[in-house]
Amino acid sequence: MKNLVTHIGGMPVPQLAKNFGTPAFIYERDVIEKRIAELKAFEVIRFAQKACSNIAILALMRKNGVVVDAVSAGEIYRALKVGYTGGGHPSGIVFTADLFDEDALQLIREHKIPVNVGSPDMITQLGKAYPGAEVTLRINPGFGHGHSRKVNTGGSYSKHGIWHTDLEECLRLGNEAGVKIQGLHMHIGSGSDYHHLSTVCDAMVKAAKRMGAPLKVISAGGGLPIPYHKEQARIDIAAYYGLWDKARKSIEREVGHPVSLEVEPGRYLVAESCSLLTQVRSVKSSGGNKFYLVDAGFDTLIRPAMYGSYHEISIAAHDGRTIGNAVDTIVAGPLCESGDVFTQEEGGVVTTRKLPEAVVGDYLILHDAGAYGAAMSSNYNTRKLAPEVMIQNGAAEIIRERQTFEAILQFERIPKTLA
Ligand code: LLP
Repeated sequence: MKNLVTHIGGMPVPQLAKNFGTPAFIYERDVIEKRIAELKAFEVIRFAQKACSNIAILALMRKNGVVVDAVSAGEIYRALKVGYTGGGHPSGIVFTADLFDEDALQLIREHKIPVNVGSPDMITQLGKAYPGAEVTLRINPGFGHGHSRKVNTGGSYSKHGIWHTDLEECLRLGNEAGVKIQGLHMHIGSGSDYHHLSTVCDAMVKAAKRMGAPLKVISAGGGLPIPYHKEQARIDIAAYYGLWDKARKSIEREVGHPVSLEVEPGRYLVAESCSLLTQVRSVKSSGGNKFYLVDAGFDTLIRPAMYGSYHEISIAAHDGRTIGNAVDTIVAGPLCESGDVFTQEEGGVVTTRKLPEAVVGDYLILHDAGAYGAAMSSNYNTRKLAPEVMIQNGAAEIIRERQTFEAILQFERIPKTLA
């Protein structure tokens, strides 16, 4: 039957649940390695670690020759922890943001990390803190696309990047500040449909012509979509690469020397590798609607509540029985908030999903939870962060322990007057 599973990564679901508890994020290493291999045409694959920054995942990226992007001091710290270094070509770490904080500036200076700047003010600030820094400009070409309004990163209402007409002013600021501006970057949104890609490539070529000889690297950003719906087609990587390579070649003719081409995916490398394993704790009906209530909520996986994102859902029987019927079901979590529903569309419209008939104790799996899953989870309702587990060579190993209540409370203090 559709949406019925027994194993994840070759391991029986009840055994995984018994060993690691629920909810738990279960990653399959070979899926990540397959995705990396698919992008090998690109000279440089730079993982946007914001999608999934567990140090085991970063170590796996490093082992496979993938470099990383960091968007905060904390992400730089993670990258350093697994052995990435700044400097060199390509630099193991690049920092991308629209602003600096002091923690980030300090690490950038100390480890000679190139910066992909998203606002002109950053150029001046970087010049003061770290003269000679290598810089790429993140350009907002004036338009953008994404799977949700919340992930569209171009256009005049986007807070991201340097407005395209400010390019020359930024080059002037770079000279004044004593930093080396040598690259251009465009990330126009996440999960866009790629009919727009040639427009983005054209915008890059135009910007590159204006920049001229100092240009050494272009970055296509991230945003490569994955088929969250089973019936969706997979992105044609060869066609995607072909368009960017064509743009690169035309830029090389213009600037008169080789230009390296980076791609910066987050989701594409990790989303499909991970199943969020949950347990059905209640099966109930309200009015005509049937609900499966599971032990993960939007504290664990926020994408459906935040963007109305779709994740495929499967059921695994806890007792090996054969499940026959499929029923229209609403899948919801434990949080004291009515938006804590996994089957919803953008704008919070609750929908139903045809799922095998589960009983309390069965397991419910939310698929494609590897990108912006664990990375965006929180302690809302004082719930522990779920563990992360990696399956490789037929064995499952913990890569993040389930959090403890002590750990959640460790930085809270009761003032003396109240103790
Ligand atoms: N590069 C830059 C500069 C970005 O801002 C992003 C994502 C990426 C690369 C990676 O994008 P990806 O390949 O993963 O689509 N939380 C949302 C996605 C937010 C994306 C933010 N920036 C979600 O769950 O869909």
